[in-house]
Formats: sequence, C-alpha cells, structure tokens
Amino acid sequence: MLIRLLRRGLPPYAGFLAAIAVLQLAGVIANLYLPSLTGRMIDHGVARGDIDYIWRMGAWMLGVSLVAIVAAISVARLGSRVAASLARDARAHVFDRVLSFSDREVLHFGAPTLITRAGNDITQVQTVVTMLLMLVVQAPIMMIGGVIMALQEDAGLAWIMAAAVPLLGIAIGIVISRMVPWFRIMQDSVDRVNRILREQITGVRVVRAFVREDVERERFAAANEIYTGAAVSVGKLMALAFPIVMVILNVSSAAVLWFGAHRVDTGQVEVGALFAFMQYLLQVLMAVMMTTMAAMMIPRAEVSARRITEVLETDSTVVDPADPQPITDENAGVELRDVTFSYPGAEVPVLDGVSFTARPGTTTAIIGSTGAGKTTLLNLIPRLRDVTGGEVLVGGRDVREASLEDVWSRIALVPQRPYLFSGTVASNLRYGDPDAADDALWEALRTAQAEDFVSRMDGGLEARIAQGGTNVSGGQRQRLAIARALVRDADVLLFDDSFSALDVATDARLREALKARTAYTTVIVVAQRVSTIVGADQIIVLDDGRVVGVGTHDELLETCETYREIAESQEAGGAGGAETLAEVPV
Ligand code: CTP
Ligand code: MG
Repeated sequence: MLIRLLRRGLPPYAGFLAAIAVLQLAGVIANLYLPSLTGRMIDHGVARGDIDYIWRMGAWMLGVSLVAIVAAISVARLGSRVAASLARDARAHVFDRVLSFSDREVLHFGAPTLITRAGNDITQVQTVVTMLLMLVVQAPIMMIGGVIMALQEDAGLAWIMAAAVPLLGIAIGIVISRMVPWFRIMQDSVDRVNRILREQITGVRVVRAFVREDVERERFAAANEIYTGAAVSVGKLMALAFPIVMVILNVSSAAVLWFGAHRVDTGQVEVGALFAFMQYLLQVLMAVMMTTMAAMMIPRAEVSARRITEVLETDSTVVDPADPQPITDENAGVELRDVTFSYPGAEVPVLDGVSFTARPGTTTAIIGSTGAGKTTLLNLIPRLRDVTGGEVLVGGRDVREASLEDVWSRIALVPQRPYLFSGTVASNLRYGDPDAADDALWEALRTAQAEDFVSRMDGGLEARIAQGGTNVSGGQRQRLAIARALVRDADVLLFDDSFSALDVATDARLREALKARTAYTTVIVVAQRVSTIVGADQIIVLDDGRVVGVGTHDELLETCETYREIAESQEAGGAGGAETLAEVPV
C-alpha cells in the first residue's frame, strides 16, 4: 500500500528524487573516503613526522568533509521538502475525495476516522518517507562500500565485522518486530480517542444534563489508556534498542583495538590502517542500524498508507453520468415515479412505491410520523443518495441522467438539522449565491422572518457565526438556513421540517411571505404540524415509507384515516406539534 501510495504521489518530484540520489552518492563517497585519508595521514605523516604531509592531507580532508556536509544538508532539505509536498498532495486528494462522497460513503467511514486519516495518518507516511529519502541510496552503498574499504585496510580483522554486522542487524530486527503490533494498536486507538473526544465535545450538553460526566470520563480514560499503553510499550522497546546498539558498537571497537594491537605489534598492519578499519566498521554498523530502524517504521506507515488508500479508492456512489443531458423543461417541477429506496444493509425499504408530481408555483407538503421516510425522500431529489428503484425527475429529466452541477444548481435544500459555517451571517447567506447584493440578503432574511434578530445582532450582516452556528438559537439557525436557501433563487425549494422551531404566528407569517416569493418555484415542505400545511396545494401522507393519502387538507380529512389521526392528535394538544429543536448538528 505504501508503495502504491508513493507510486501515485512521487512522479511529479522525479527531478528532486534524482537530485537527492546524486547528492547522497556524493555524500557517501566523501564519507567513505575520509577514514582512509585519516589512516594515510597517521601512517605517512604522523608516524614519520612529515608535517607538510599532515597539512596537505588535512586540507584535503577538510575539502572532502565539506562535500559530505553540504550533501547531507541538501539531502535533508530536499528530502523533507519532497515528503512535505507529498503529504500536502495526499491531503488535497483525501479532501477532494471526501467532498465527492455522498451521504452513504461519509456514513460508512464516519467523520472522526476521515479526519485522522487526512491528518495523523498522512503525517506518519510523511515521517517515513522523509527517512527513506535520506537513506535509500546512502545506506546500501555505505554498507557495501564500508565493508570493501575496511577489508582493503586490513583483511585480517574481517571476522570482527562478520560477527558484529549480523549481530546488530538481528538484535535490532528482533526489537523492531516486537514493536510492529503496537503500531497497529496505536493507529486504531488514535481513531478511538478522536471519536470519543469528538462525541463528548459535540454532546457536552447532553452529558451534563444527564450527569454522565463520570461515565464519559471513564470511557475516555479507557481509550486513552489503550493508546498510552501502546505508546509506552513502543517507547520501552525503543529504549532497549539504544543500549543494545551501543554495546555492540563499543564491544566491536574494543575487539578491533585488542586484536589489531597484536597485529600492529607483529607488523602485519600499520596504526593508521587499523584506525581506518575501525572507522569503517562504525560506519557500516551505523548504516545497518539506520536501515533496520527505517525498516521497522515501514509497517507503521504501511498501516497508515492502507487507511489513506482506502479513502482514495472509495468511489462515491453518486457520480456524474458519462453523457450528461441538460435539464430543459422549466415547467416540469419535480416528479417521483414509483420510487423505492433501501439503506445499505437494510432488509426493508424505507420508501416503497412513492409517486407524486410537484408543479412549479405550487406547494407540496409531506407529512408523516417520525421515521416515515420524509427526510430520506427529500434527500433523493438533489441526489444526496440515489434511488434503489424507480425514478426522480427534476425539470422532466431523471436526475441520474443530468450532471450533478445542473441538478444542484436548480435545487435549494433546507436540511432538517441546518448547518451554518463559521464566518458571518453574510458569508453564510452567500453560500446560496456568492454574488448576491446586500439588498438581496436582507430581502431573503425578511422573508425568512430573520430580519429582526439579524439587525439586532452586533454587526448585522457582518455578525459573527460560530462553527456549526452554535452561537445563535436553534430557531434562529433554522431561519438563517431558510434565508440561505432563498438567496439561491432556485427552481425547486425543499424544506425539511424547517418550521418546527418557529412559533405558530411566525410560522404563518413566514409561509405568507414565502408564497409571494415563490410564484414560479416548486416548493416541497416536510412538516410535523398540520397547521403549517393546511394551505398547501397538495399534501402527501407518508406512513412507513408508503403514500397513504394525497390531496388537500379538507380532502384528506375526509379520505385519509392516518391524516385525520395526525390532525386530531394535534388539535387535542392545542398548538401541538413536535418542537423538535435539533441539537448541534455535527
Ligand atoms: N434510516 C437509516 N439510515 C439513515 C437514515 C435513516 O436506516 N442514514 C432509517 C431510519 O431507521 C428510519 C428511516 O430510515 O426508520 C426513515 O428515516 P427518515 O427519512 O430520516 O425519517 P423522517 O420521516 O425524516 O423522520 P423525522 O420526522 O423524525 O425526521
Ligand atoms: Mg426527517
């Protein structure tokens, strides 16, 4: 998966990669050259007291070191730059993907994990890529070159190298392989901690109201504990790795000195060569260590890469058709033909054989008990989801035949749980139409019965709105969402239970104002209160996903048992109606 992700992301940076490879090559050659220079300086300069030679060699070494340093710095800079760009691209891709997702894919993943994948997981990959870019050429050359150079200095000590290198490799390998399972646990528990935290922050009022703080605290603590436990286990193993490395490095240096000293005594090798041998040994061991470390980080990045790829390779179930047809008939309104819909995995359809036509200039109301499928039905019209049977037509065209852009540009939806973005009142209203003038915004606010409170807000149109619209009341949020839909000036207006937070008088005024504005608009209103829809041109009564009655208020009172029951239950309860004030919609 990591390889797949890299193959997808790296090509644009091929130039940088080539530069990194060349620089690493230069650096590694310089590093391999240095010990042999030192050796020569000792044997020919120091041993013979040739000061001139020492100076010459010294200058030479300075030059070679400079090359090594410049190469190392440039590799690090280029490497992090490529890795950071890669991460930026990956984030952009994930973001684009998620934006293209329909309701169904978002629910399939869930918001917290999508956020972790776009953030933490990509950072994991970035870290490993940075490391790999710095090692990939350097480490193998260093290992092989180091061995060759060392043997040239003194082949008699080769057995120390033959013992130390595999020992180090195996020791670190064992430590690392014990870390890998913890990496998986860590990544999954990041998700869990995020999810719980998010849920608790979002639902903080519910938690307070039901005095569930202790329970929630424990739930969070448990998830946090798992994460901490995994991180501590990884840390302990890391802590074990360093002493092991140091012991092996130092013991092998000591061995070189011990056995080398005898060879110097017997004249088999010169002091300088022995010194160079030791340097090469250390270089090789370092390279082995770095490679093993990088190798052990790969599994962790692999876990993250899989999680990222999963998002990137999930296709939205709602996509543009191959050959989009334009929507031409402005007078056709919205038509549902024998629509059936089931949520994925559900056995019974939520909507079953629903047919009706909503004409421009008329208002169609949909009423039914909770869970009857009203929201589901509305979501099918702008293709938030696709029907599983039958057709939805907008402007005479099956919505699946037209381009998404075309469909969406004709429809304005006020969702049941309206969401406002952080910004100002104006910036939220202009979601409907970026070019709308202030006058048009006020006009929409007036219709939505929101003019009063907006003009009282600090700054009026420029008043600040918090993320999710949490700094205005539920009813105010609903009215702003209505105004936002009105600014759009769409052919089709969909209201999902949008008047529930309004008192009966405001509700009536709003409907009156709306009527004046929507002479040519197809309006579909989902409502809980019969009083909201008495004036509708057509009322559809939904029960358990089926249409059980169609007609005007008076007709339905005569003909539809379900409608009569709803109407009677609300009369009995006075103003009645479910005051369903949506909580923070996240
Ligand atoms: N449902 C589901 N998965 C979803 C949304 C809804 O399985 N993502 C199911 C629910 O179990 C519900 C049915 O679909 O029984 C209808 O849901 P919905 O259309 O939202 O019902 P409404 O009529 O809008 O209910 P309410 O009046 O409460 O808004
Ligand atoms: Mg609903």
